[in-house]
Amino acid sequence: MISGSMQTKSYRFSSATVNYYFDADFSRLEKLIGKEQAVLITDEHVFQAHKKKLKGWNCITLKPGEEYKIQATVDSIIEQLIEFKADRSTWLIGIGGGVITDLTGYVAAIYMRGIKCGFVPTTVLAMVDASIGGKNGIDVGIYKNLVGTIRQPQFLLYDYSFLKSLPKQEWVNGFAEIIKHSCIKDLRLFKELEQHKPAYYQKDKPALAKLIRRNAEIKSTVVQGDEFEKGERRLLNFGHTLGHAIENMYELSHGQAISIGMTDACKISEQLAGFKDTDRVIKVLDQYGLPTLANYDKQKAFEVLKMDKKREKKAMNYVLLEKIGKGVVQSVPMDELEQIIMKLTS
Ligand SMILES: NC(=O)c1ccc[n+]([C@@H]2O[C@H](COP(=O)([O-])OP(=O)(O)OC[C@H]3O[C@@H](n4cnc5c(N)ncnc54)[C@H](O)[C@@H]3O)[C@@H](O)[C@H]2O)c1
Ligand SMILES: [Zn+2]
Repeated sequence: MISGSMQTKSYRFSSATVNYYFDADFSRLEKLIGKEQAVLITDEHVFQAHKKKLKGWNCITLKPGEEYKIQATVDSIIEQLIEFKADRSTWLIGIGGGVITDLTGYVAAIYMRGIKCGFVPTTVLAMVDASIGGKNGIDVGIYKNLVGTIRQPQFLLYDYSFLKSLPKQEWVNGFAEIIKHSCIKDLRLFKELEQHKPAYYQKDKPALAKLIRRNAEIKSTVVQGDEFEKGERRLLNFGHTLGHAIENMYELSHGQAISIGMTDACKISEQLAGFKDTDRVIKVLDQYGLPTLANYDKQKAFEVLKMDKKREKKAMNYVLLEKIGKGVVQSVPMDELEQIIMKLTS
């Protein structure tokens, strides 16, 4: 059955138009692609929790987790595609979190020099962030997302019923990106988030649907304006520069790491962009179960940060807030950044 409230929207990117089916039912997939033409790629957690939905489809089920976002998994997917006799007319459908959509997009880009793909994101993070924008790829050793392409899927299908089985920590990770979007682009969204807690969205389906759609639109619009990351798309890195550095140094989830990264980016924004609302941002992060205090090794974090892809010679493009809802990218000289970071207090 197709849900009565399903809404379709298309975003045009340079090389493709992506159809977004919001508020859809998974059964919609069969209307889009015949079962014999598709190979689904998912992981064991999603498969176990949603067996019924996936019944009758050709399915490749991977071990869950970032540690499997590697070339060996790509090889094993390709072997299974050969067994399924997948050819140029086959569609790959990634059903899962960002690990699955990144892997699926990558394999679809290289198998037979490129076959069609679509995503059914099943984590909040994948719904509002990872499945959008066409970046795909794998990790190599300690280097995250070192190998990959930018290539859009044909469609994104949003069925919020997948979220019923999502563990609490994964909700929290998704909310970190949602708060990020509100900080860089949408004061109204930020004000809405201030009024609620995660439980509100977990219980109220229309509110959740609206929240996810709004966030998918924010990311899509930013990417659309700058698909190949020359300017505006950099805003999406708010909290991620220091965040990535400490995510690697300590055993933090991505959401926790960028929450600390956003807190410190707010404090840096006070000094460099006249930002005045750090306390408000901290309060919202806290409300959604995210950490804002951290006594991390600042010197070591700065050493890691010096290796960041976003660094350009002697300065670094840092995402700051002028005010809530208005992110800006500023080139900050490395020595100035070092001084500021060393003096940050937790
Ligand atoms: N391509 C991009 O633009 C982009 C952007 C952001 C993040 N990413 C990537 O996304 C990944 C993180 O995404 P993620 O947080 O979704 O991680 P994930 O895919 O590892 O999913 C998190 C966990 O939730 C489980 N899970 C997923 N859906 C579930 C469901 N409905 N019910 C129960 N369990 C479920 C997974 O098995 C996994 O254990 C990282 O690899 C990151 O690099 C990519
Ligand atoms: Zn992120």
